[in-house]
Amino acid sequence: MTTMTDRKNAAISRGVGMTTQIYADRAENAEIWDKDGNRYIDFAAGIAVVNTGHRHPRVVQAIKDQLDRFTHTCHQVVPYENYVSLAERLNRLVPGDFEKKTIFATTGAEAVENAVKIARHHTGRPGIVAFTGAFHGRTFMGMTLTGKVQPYKAGFGAMMPDVWHLPFPNELHGVSQADALAALDKLFKADVDPARVAAIIVEPVQGEGGFYPVPSGFMQTLRALCDDHGMLLIADEVQTGFARTGKLFAMEHHGVAADITCMAKGLGGGMPISAVTGRAEVMDGPNPGGLGGTYAGNPLGVAAAHAVLDIIEDEGLSERAERLGQRLKQRLASLRDDVPEIVDIRGPGLMNAVEFNVGAKPSPEFTNKVREEALSRGLILLTCGVYGNVIRFLPPLTVPDAVFDEALGIIEDSVRAARGAGRHQAAQDGGLMAGAQEA
Ligand SMILES: Cc1ncc(COP(=O)(O)O)c(C=O)c1O
Repeated sequence: MTTMTDRKNAAISRGVGMTTQIYADRAENAEIWDKDGNRYIDFAAGIAVVNTGHRHPRVVQAIKDQLDRFTHTCHQVVPYENYVSLAERLNRLVPGDFEKKTIFATTGAEAVENAVKIARHHTGRPGIVAFTGAFHGRTFMGMTLTGKVQPYKAGFGAMMPDVWHLPFPNELHGVSQADALAALDKLFKADVDPARVAAIIVEPVQGEGGFYPVPSGFMQTLRALCDDHGMLLIADEVQTGFARTGKLFAMEHHGVAADITCMAKGLGGGMPISAVTGRAEVMDGPNPGGLGGTYAGNPLGVAAAHAVLDIIEDEGLSERAERLGQRLKQRLASLRDDVPEIVDIRGPGLMNAVEFNVGAKPSPEFTNKVREEALSRGLILLTCGVYGNVIRFLPPLTVPDAVFDEALGIIEDSVRAARGAGRHQAAQDGGLMAGAQEA
């Protein structure tokens, strides 16, 4: 019998990876049901997209209302009011006590591309500094800025010129803030004149790279460096935005404003829309027609985004993210005595992660085992990290308490089961943990 996976493999490029073989039939808040009626708790949220839950009634209503009026005119041809009012809202909400302007696009990668174009145009400089472990998308500039070779850069030919990577300060992996700054100093002496650099781009919490928050004080240092050298600071808030970290934007944890902020994912509550907001004079650099796109700021996405911003405020989702995140981290911490593979538990708000080593080495095998055990118990989890040894938790911020508690139980059972499987396998392998020989 031909399965859906057979059909998928025959029809779709293997370059589009898949974390699960669940074919979605319907979804509601933090739950997804597949074609066979199996129910899953969704701790991926479409990779940090449905922060307001699947099909939040107010998002659905906003989309339906817009659908009944018009779906597409292209804002560059026949503009619409809610595009302007969404820009006005983001100009008010994005950190920074200065006049701002906004553009819309469709994906996170496009937001990053536009931020780079705008920064280059304003400064007249080509260079961009990014960080190892960063993820900024799969377009040419996005993948060039990304600091992870497999699977994002390998085989895709020449990267864009004038992009430089600094080691991301990460004490857990032996890189201090001083190391990162020393590398920057060396970069500016050995490789590129800072007067050639338009901007530094940073995720306030690295997403795909492993859920590592920028350490306290480092964002201020970056801000000062940018100011000293006439460079712009670009915050990629594509994954961290919209209450995920316990604040509307993760930069608020640092008390630092970026010159340009990239947004996507959570903004549209499941509709594809992204945005770039920045200093008005910077955003106004490009000539009319230099920015935009046929679908940029699609009316359905714009309508959904207004509803998302209303919901975040009315339902206190930033506070809820903080509360739930504390509970998740406490539950993971309670396992530490029994599970020596846990080397770190971290993350602001409900952008949390647990990192696993076996012996002193990162263990993607153990991590995948946890993910698989969870899936077999009906919980969807994602991994991340340059070494693939991190489980990231991204539930909708609206996840009901009972469903959240159920998921915490599954997480505990899955971590314990992964240990059990590891021990069982170790006995069979004559002392090696399961999969360790693959590393
Ligand atoms: C921080 C960050 N920037 C950019 C992107 C790219 O967004 P998209 O996949 O919508 O192009 C992502 C996606 O995961 C991301 O996490």
